Amino acid sequence: MTFTVAIDGPAASGKGTIARAVAAHFGFAHLDTGLLYRGVGFRVMQGEDPLNAAENLVAEELKNPELRGAAVSQWASKVAVLPEVRAALLDFQRAFARRLGGAVLDGRDIGTVICPAAEAKLFVTASDATRARRRHKELLDHDPDITFDTVLSDLRERDRRDSERSAAPLVPADDAILIDTSDMSIDAAVAAAIAAIANRQ
Ligand code: C5P
Repeated sequence: MTFTVAIDGPAASGKGTIARAVAAHFGFAHLDTGLLYRGVGFRVMQGEDPLNAAENLVAEELKNPELRGAAVSQWASKVAVLPEVRAALLDFQRAFARRLGGAVLDGRDIGTVICPAAEAKLFVTASDATRARRRHKELLDHDPDITFDTVLSDLRERDRRDSERSAAPLVPADDAILIDTSDMSIDAAVAAAIAAIANRQ
């Protein structure tokens, strides 16, 4: 059987955590599509041409922990503006979504562009302050000097670039279920997501 769960939302909204938990609950495969753009961004940061980087990306390099850093986040959202980069990553994501046994993909354009026919679509949000607090905590492990204000302004800059671009902007699909995790525990957010998906089965 095939069953696609599309989970979109801005940075640090909780979509990645929800996507992993949902995949484990239903026994579906999970793809963090942001990592693809981070992989391309990392190569471009080192001087490679964006399209060349997108066409030659291999799974192994997505395990590099440096991809999670703040500099790569900004490069990822810069290369994500380019339609040719998005096009080069499309087939891989669509094939993953239709794999047998079910799939969960999280990103920005899964429910709108990659899998408009997904069986279940979620859009996960949280306030700017909540998201910056979460991301600041994560980034401190890699960079002990990073400040909350830097993280907040980086997030806002990335959100603006992701929402205002003309190729696959960050917008909820018309039929997406909205989950605002600002005042929710992880457990409550995961339970809400699982209930919404179970409803579509
Ligand atoms: O989700 P994450 O923060 O890892 O994504 C990094 C960047 O990749 C985002 O800011 C966005 O510009 C881009 N992205 C995208 N479409 C996706 C997933 C990520 O444009 N489906």
